[in-house]
Amino acid sequence: MAKIGVYPGSFDPITQGHLDIIKRASKFCDKLIVAVLKNSRKSPIFTEQERVELIRRSVTGIDNLEIESFDGLLADYVRKKDAQIIIRGLRAMSDFEYEFQMALTNKKLNPEAETVFLTTDINYMYLSSSIVRDVAKNGGDISEFVPAEIKETVENKLRNI
Ligand code: PNS
Repeated sequence: MAKIGVYPGSFDPITQGHLDIIKRASKFCDKLIVAVLKNSRKSPIFTEQERVELIRRSVTGIDNLEIESFDGLLADYVRKKDAQIIIRGLRAMSDFEYEFQMALTNKKLNPEAETVFLTTDINYMYLSSSIVRDVAKNGGDISEFVPAEIKETVENKLRNI
């Protein structure tokens, strides 16, 4: 049976930390689906289409990858996709409580799926989409934070809101 992984998130926007997780997870999944939550509680700055497009432009050269958006429960989406693995990145202990709660909820809702945590690359421990948004909005340099292919697009959007 093919191992299908889902890497869900808001990706508002994708960061180098997300990209690192995508690259590593794509090595142990036969197919990896990057799943962008459409209507995040976090009220994303980038539209669903923009977030998908920014990921698409960042992930060139990874063959076993699909990028989609989803709505509703992650556990249902994972079932619909015949996936068995939910991938999440862990940066620090502060991520843990929320991630633990989410993993247990998803296990209750879809016992067939396992959540697998990948520890962040040490270089990206501090990094988050909100840090990227804040730095870009205030005119700072985000070249180390986001893939080079999307830097300008992210800057243009954030400097004009
Ligand atoms: O990048 P994020 O914002 O930390 O990702 C959070 C995400 C999208 C994985 C999470 O909010 C999610 O799965 N939402 C879908 C709704 C859902 O399934 N909720 C119940 C599990 S907490």
